[in-house]
Amino acid sequence: VDQRKRFGVGKERYGDGEMTRERGKTEREAWEDHQAQKATLRFGSKNKKGVYDGYEFVFDEVARLVETCDEVEAEKDESRTVAERGKEDRKMLPIYAYRDELLKHIEENQILVIVGETGSGKTTQIPQYLQEAGYTKRGKIGCTQPRRVAAMSVASRVAQELGVKLGHEVGYSIRFEDCTSEKTVIKYMTDGMLLRELLIEPTLGSYSVIMVDEAHERTLSTDILFGLVKDLAKARPDLRLIISSATLEAKKFSEYFDSAMIYPIPGRRYPVEKLFQKCPEPDRLETAIRTVFQIHQTEPLGDVLVFLTGQEEIETAETKLKQRMKDLGSKSSEIIICPIYSNLPTELQAKVFEPAAKGTRKVVLATNIAETSLTIDGIRYVVDPGYCKINSYDPKTGMESLLETPISKASAEQRAGRSGRTGPGKCFRLYNVKDLEATTVPEVKRANLASVVLTLKSLGINDVYHFDFMDPPSDNSLVKALELLYALGALDAKSEITKLGERMVEFPVDPMLSKMIVGSEKYKCSVEIITIAAMLSTGSSIFYRPSKNQQYLADNARMNFYTEKAGDHIALLRVYNTWKEMDYSSQWCYENYIQSKSMRRARDIREQLAGLLKKIGVELTSNPDDLDAVKKAIVAGFFPHSAKLQKDGSYKRVREPQTVYVHPNSGLFGAPPKKWLVYHELVLTTKEYMRHVTEMKPEWLVEIAPHYFKLKDIEEAQPKKTQSRRSKSTKSLVLKVDTNKKAKR
Ligand code: CDP
Ligand code: MG
Repeated sequence: VDQRKRFGVGKERYGDGEMTRERGKTEREAWEDHQAQKATLRFGSKNKKGVYDGYEFVFDEVARLVETCDEVEAEKDESRTVAERGKEDRKMLPIYAYRDELLKHIEENQILVIVGETGSGKTTQIPQYLQEAGYTKRGKIGCTQPRRVAAMSVASRVAQELGVKLGHEVGYSIRFEDCTSEKTVIKYMTDGMLLRELLIEPTLGSYSVIMVDEAHERTLSTDILFGLVKDLAKARPDLRLIISSATLEAKKFSEYFDSAMIYPIPGRRYPVEKLFQKCPEPDRLETAIRTVFQIHQTEPLGDVLVFLTGQEEIETAETKLKQRMKDLGSKSSEIIICPIYSNLPTELQAKVFEPAAKGTRKVVLATNIAETSLTIDGIRYVVDPGYCKINSYDPKTGMESLLETPISKASAEQRAGRSGRTGPGKCFRLYNVKDLEATTVPEVKRANLASVVLTLKSLGINDVYHFDFMDPPSDNSLVKALELLYALGALDAKSEITKLGERMVEFPVDPMLSKMIVGSEKYKCSVEIITIAAMLSTGSSIFYRPSKNQQYLADNARMNFYTEKAGDHIALLRVYNTWKEMDYSSQWCYENYIQSKSMRRARDIREQLAGLLKKIGVELTSNPDDLDAVKKAIVAGFFPHSAKLQKDGSYKRVREPQTVYVHPNSGLFGAPPKKWLVYHELVLTTKEYMRHVTEMKPEWLVEIAPHYFKLKDIEEAQPKKTQSRRSKSTKSLVLKVDTNKKAKR
């Protein structure tokens, strides 16, 4: 109660007007006073828009009204069923007070921008309100999420609240995983999946409402969706659009959607004490772990949320924390570690939401998924090292890499806020907030656009330069995307989508990978290629890396799959095929230091890829003895990722000046170097590393991609004779592309 009194006193802006709070009144009393006036204050003004035009988003500076939940808390009875409890929990969420008003505004406004602090109930409640109001009779309610874990876990939460089986009335759809059925009326999905649905159903006729959630994240797919659904709204007056976001950028969203109404939902927030490190230490992870133990030893009970950059860092942190706990002896049982990141197996995801047992402290190790997408109750302490992983793309060089980058000030505020949801919180910042940029650059300005450009082209939006981007990307990155798609054969010289391009679009993967898949038809090795593509798409590593003293065993086991010494792609193929021969045995995985979960996922993905090949009329053909054919198909998709050995053992990208290196996790690392490599992706850690590399022949480059490579690009490494022979064989592909062009015209 004392803490609550520290909230601002005096006049406060409160969304729809000012509220006066007398000195000494508790939050609860002030809240009640305000509720009494609310009827006249909220939307009481004649000019609804006017109220919001002047609305300032000052949620952080101003005390938020805190509705104490003591009474509701007292009503809690452990004997109730989950569904019953769910119903009551729903009423405790801040959004509940605004349910009817919200529904009224959705009915009256085709497009509504909803801003509300994380945890107020937007994602889980709004679709349910809409269902209760009868919207699902007209069509499904679709709600997009930038992250797959969020889509899954929110869907499962809502299914639980409604007391239905996940995948029935409430379902989710993420890449390579469709958990919906005929019955599904509330569908959570990644923003990328809705983009794909647009390809199949351009008017989204089966939907009555589309909610673009977490809009502030400004992922590439969300930004493209903005433009598409804005257009769609004009063609479909019955469709309702909800753009919802945490408090940031609401005005910008409103302006973009032709001055759509902004509806703010006040959240609850307790004060958060922010502590920061004046001189940040170089080893962030170590500092973070130390801070966790400091909290554990000196602070009252309450869960801790640590923001880390990714799965790898989280796993390291988990190991270190456990080790440290062991050293501490008996106390260790008091800490429960819960990791959460996008590739965490589904069955482990629920654990993070389970309340910690009495007397214990939950330590959640999360990526920035916990920043706004997921709300974990009970967090009182946030440890924020201040970094996240973002992908960055340099259109000049076509280099794409995942970078660990300092977060923005806006993110820092969001992260801190996670500790003050259920009581006063503390945030330990391992950096100085002064050093941060104000906001994160939207992904559209720093991403490889090839995939979305191809999607747009397939949707018939030919002039991508004039697409209605909220923030337009640079012309340069659009040019690069078009060039790449042209080189892959997905676009013709008039920049129109080719038949090949249309076939590539069918696959929910990047254009280079889809080209590799579709291209395998020519080399009669689609069976092998979809296996490789699936193994590359699991999102987690195939090989298990045990702790240091066992690593050599794992490395030995892994090298068994490199019998041809051709490279990582071929080894992945070998792993999969052997596993299949072993009847998909988990025991075999265990013995060979293979992650059986990743393998099962690969099998799943592979099945879907096979289905898609069938759909586009490509037969499954196998050519197990011709590894060159397999490698050629890889090069057909990945020729822009080719690299040539340098004298010092490093590699240089063909046609580009960058120096790149074989990743230490590659089976070719430390082996006698191959002259030419094709790689799957680059990762930047201490150096630019090529991940998943396979040997190739340079003459394939001009044979396969004559538009892209000239003989001089590979001249140095090749004796003159082979060159002339090569130029003849290049013709076939040129002809093929030409035929496509003609067919299109
Ligand atoms: O979307 P918004 O951030 O406004 O809130 P929400 O995701 O709808 O979450 C509302 C509440 O549901 C949170 O306070 C969580 O306690 C709960 N929730 C949960 O327990 N498990 C989930 N997977 C999602 C939400
Ligand atoms: Mg949400």
